[in-house]
Amino acid sequence: MESQPYLAQLFSLENHTALVTGGSSGIGRAIAGALARAGANVVIVARREAELAATVGELEAEGCRAAWVAADLATRDGVRDAADRAAAVFGEPDILVNCAGINLRPPMSELDEDVWDRTMAVNLDAPFLLGQRFGPGMAERGYGRIIHVTSQQAHRAFVQSGAYGVSKGGLESLARSQAEAWSPHGVTCNTLVPGFVLTPLNARLQSQPGTIAALADRTLVGRNGVPEDFAGAAVFLASRASAYVTGQSVFVDGGFHAH
Ligand SMILES: NC(=O)c1ccc[n+]([C@@H]2O[C@H](COP(=O)([O-])OP(=O)(O)OC[C@H]3O[C@@H](n4cnc5c(N)ncnc54)[C@H](OP(=O)(O)O)[C@@H]3O)[C@@H](O)[C@H]2O)c1
Repeated sequence: MESQPYLAQLFSLENHTALVTGGSSGIGRAIAGALARAGANVVIVARREAELAATVGELEAEGCRAAWVAADLATRDGVRDAADRAAAVFGEPDILVNCAGINLRPPMSELDEDVWDRTMAVNLDAPFLLGQRFGPGMAERGYGRIIHVTSQQAHRAFVQSGAYGVSKGGLESLARSQAEAWSPHGVTCNTLVPGFVLTPLNARLQSQPGTIAALADRTLVGRNGVPEDFAGAAVFLASRASAYVTGQSVFVDGGFHAH
């Protein structure tokens, strides 16, 4: 057998539709690009229109099918409205990637209810609501892929995990609950677990040279992550090839977790 048809059979996302939250920046942008280049119709959701339009423009220029929906996922009505508008573009998604996230990092003693609520709303409530909106339909149709982006801080405390680590721990549990419910119906639910990835999210930490060098030393590969490191794992988890992988935390972290 020739390699191209074989690879397409395993990994092609032609005739699939993906919704990627946070698809306009950092890890989400790289994942949205990877899924689109693998053949999926991709709708990205975030707040800032200029970044959304630039991402979609770049993908369309490569011949990919992509669209954007501007929405604030920090409110439940915002999530519901975004889901409806996203599904109206290419139809109901069979791939859902929850990558939008915030990390506000106040010291634990100063963590107030506002930071707690905002963190939970974006990092945990939105993925839950989007799962409830799209998961049952995927199960009914017999195929679906749900991918959450979590964090080392779902597994360990460091760099002021605060509310963020709690939200990511919850997200890993959500993935397992979803996997328990929907995997018998062809819907796999997994998490991608980054290490330290150079993106706008941690710009302040990156400005402390000693800190990022120390974090790179904690990996086995010897460097911090870049968004493109997530392309292959995302395509795998979004594709038919991962049909027997569910309820798992897939570490894309240069060995950080194993060190
Ligand atoms: N970078 C790391 O080292 C690292 C490590 C572990 C886990 N992660 C996780 O990876 C994911 C992506 O992070 P990143 O580093 O790629 O960050 P990023 O570059 O800051 O991207 C975050 C994305 O989420 C969107 N977003 C944030 N708040 C939103 C809201 N209220 N409504 C809608 N969209 C919202 C942002 O767009 P707008 O601002 O335009 O809304 C942006 O597209 C996050 O879940 C993060 O927790 C990152």
